[in-house]
Amino acid sequence: MPDTHTNLPIISEGPEDMASSIMQLASLDDPRIWQEALRMMELMVGYKEDRMVYTCAIKAIRTKFEVLDTEFNVRYQRNPINFITTRLKSNQSIVLKMARKGIPFTIENMEKHVEDIAGIRIICSYVDDIYQLADSLLRQDDVTLLTRKDYIKEPKKNGYRSLHLIVSVPVFFADVTRQVPVEVQIRTIAMDFWASLEHQMKYKQEIADEEHIIARLRECADRIAALDEEMLAIRKQIESGKNVPSQEDLLLQKLRQLETPIE
Ligand code: GTP
Ligand code: MG
Repeated sequence: MPDTHTNLPIISEGPEDMASSIMQLASLDDPRIWQEALRMMELMVGYKEDRMVYTCAIKAIRTKFEVLDTEFNVRYQRNPINFITTRLKSNQSIVLKMARKGIPFTIENMEKHVEDIAGIRIICSYVDDIYQLADSLLRQDDVTLLTRKDYIKEPKKNGYRSLHLIVSVPVFFADVTRQVPVEVQIRTIAMDFWASLEHQMKYKQEIADEEHIIARLRECADRIAALDEEMLAIRKQIESGKNVPSQEDLLLQKLRQLETPIE
C-alpha cells in the first residue's frame, strides 16, 4: 500500500455505506440475519472507536516531539526537527497486512498484531539529532519501547536508512487510559529524500531497466550516508571552533534567549 504520511488532519475512512447495507439486511424478517447484522454493526462501531484511539495516540506522541523541539530551540537556538508527518494506516492496508500474515480479522487480533496503525515520521537535519530525539523520547516515564530497528547502523540491502521504534504510549480518555503502540520513524532530510524516491519505484508496476535503477539508488544511498556524515562533521567543527565564552558572554546568551519567541 502506498505510504501516505501527511500533515493533513487525520480523518478515518467511514463505514457509512456498509452500515446502510446492514440496516437493509436487518429489515428482512429473519432473526439470524438480524443477529449477524447486529454483530457486524458492533464490530464496525468498535473498529471506529479503535481508530479514534490510534488517532489520539498520534496526537499524544506528536506533542512529545514538538515539546522536545521547542525546548531545544529555546535553549540552543536550533531546531532538531525539520518537520513531522503522521499517518493512520488505511483500512485496506490493515486488512491486507493481517491477511498476509494469515491472521483472522478481529479487533483484538488487529490490536495485538498490527503495531504500525499509528505512525509518525520525524525528519531531522543531522544524524546525531536522530539519536538524541530517540533517547529523549525513551527516557520519558510513560513511553515504553517495544521494538527498535536501527537501519542507520545497519542499512537494508537496498540502502534504506532510518531509525525505527515501536513505542507504547498511554492515551488518557474521559474514563479510561489506553496503552497504544505507535511506529516512530526518525531520519534525516537526505534519508527521507532517498526513501521517497525508492518508495515511488516500489509501487510502480512495470519499470524499464529496474535492475539498473536499484543499483543507482543503492549508490545514491551510499553517497547520502557520506553526505550526512560530512554535514555533521562540519557542524561539529563550527561549534568547536567557537571561542570559549566568558561569564559575560554566557549571561548575554541567556538574556538573548529571553527574546526568542516560543513556538
Ligand atoms: P512492514 O510490514 O512494512 O510494517 O515491515 P516491518 O514490520 O518489517 O517493519 P520495518 O520496520 O522494516 O518497516 C516499516 C516501515 O518502514 C515501512 O512500512 C516503510 O514505511 C518503511 N520502510 C522499511 N523499509 C523500507 C524500504 O526499503 N524503503 C522505503 N522507502 N521504506 C521502507
Ligand atoms: Mg508498516
